Amino acid sequence: MRTQVAIIGAGPSGLLLGQLLHNQGIANVILEQRSGEYVLSRIRAGLIEAGTADLLDRAGVGARLRREGLRHEGIEINFDGKRQRIDLQKLTGKIITVYGQTEITHDLMEARSTAGVPTIYEAAGASLHDIATDQPRVRYHKDGVEGEIVCDFIAGCDGFHGVSRQTIPEAALRHYERVYPFGWLGVLSETPPISPELIYVSHQRGFALCSMRSFTRSRVYIQCRLDDHVEDWPDERFWGELKLRLDPQSASAIVTGSSIEKSIAPLRSFVAEPMRFGRLFLAGDAAHIVPPTGAKGLNLAASDVYYLSQAFAEFYDTGSSAGLDGYSDRALARVWQAERFSWWMTRLLHRFPEDSGFDRRIQRAELEFLASSQSAQAALAENYVGLPY
Ligand code: APR
Ligand code: PHB
Repeated sequence: MRTQVAIIGAGPSGLLLGQLLHNQGIANVILEQRSGEYVLSRIRAGLIEAGTADLLDRAGVGARLRREGLRHEGIEINFDGKRQRIDLQKLTGKIITVYGQTEITHDLMEARSTAGVPTIYEAAGASLHDIATDQPRVRYHKDGVEGEIVCDFIAGCDGFHGVSRQTIPEAALRHYERVYPFGWLGVLSETPPISPELIYVSHQRGFALCSMRSFTRSRVYIQCRLDDHVEDWPDERFWGELKLRLDPQSASAIVTGSSIEKSIAPLRSFVAEPMRFGRLFLAGDAAHIVPPTGAKGLNLAASDVYYLSQAFAEFYDTGSSAGLDGYSDRALARVWQAERFSWWMTRLLHRFPEDSGFDRRIQRAELEFLASSQSAQAALAENYVGLPY
């Protein structure tokens, strides 16, 4: 099989890139190791920056998000039993939209199949070849038969554990990483949200986040130990612990119910530089991870693929490689801003087991500063709502 851009991975990065390229008349094939149903069954984050929503509109896949997404003008930061609202709309003129990543994936898959652009699901053992030449190839197995895609470029959109980054010679990549000494236990439940706006909680027992997917569906996270197991957290224990971390008013608004999904995720900051080797370009989680506290993962994936799609369009329209040559620096500038913010929010709101009394006092002073300073709130809001394109 021959195509212009072979895309590895049908997560949000791969699917959005495929859609943007297709709209620009650039042929592409997506290779995904899992089935479409499996990809759609993964529960992920769900907070969409205004710039990301605009990008989805431009890609022609924003209609349902605009119809069904929940528009939020503010968030709350909750500490020492107090509730501090951050008025995103007033401070930045922008809002955010709560719309599950699963829904975006669904919308992108549907647009792709309607347009008849090929995706090869359940493609096993993908391997990348000749990535430093102008005719790279991807080999894989499907139903026991070997397949090969010959292309001009490969886009590595295969997430943190994917094969793309691992194919780049070690000496050509630098890694920057911080692994946090705790995880997030997340629960999805068919219960109304605890509050109309998201509540981020800093508590001596640990962080908590009350989010939602709809007016009838809650998404809640609590900080847990790295060695905790989901089985250690039956629903009653989970709701009981959440209650202990919330202010009395929010705690009394909890409607408990059985969980539809429950999982533990470790928190990590990670960046691989540069995001290119030869004719292989990395995008999304394949190149970087942020802890979910700043809600940046999906939005960063969108910014990478936007820049990458522009660079491919320039190459095919004009023959110029300038955009492709500048892709890594351009994407990384935004990545590092999001890394900084996600690290800062994580540091501000979590209980770090190794912290001294001094560290805890500093953390509280920082929260008090945020509560008392308009400009500190404006800085948080500006980072939280993200940059336009
Ligand atoms: N061959 C083919 N596909 C692969 C391979 C492989 N060797 N390895 C991984 N994949 C697929 C995975 O099955 C997955 O569907 O690549 C896809 C990567 O998707 P994501 O992990 O969702 O990464 P990305 O598309 O960059 O999305 C970033 O999703 O994980 C969240 O927090 C993250 O919100 C962010 C966003
Ligand atoms: C979510 O709704 O899943 C969510 C929201 C905000 C975050 C992280 C996750 O910071």
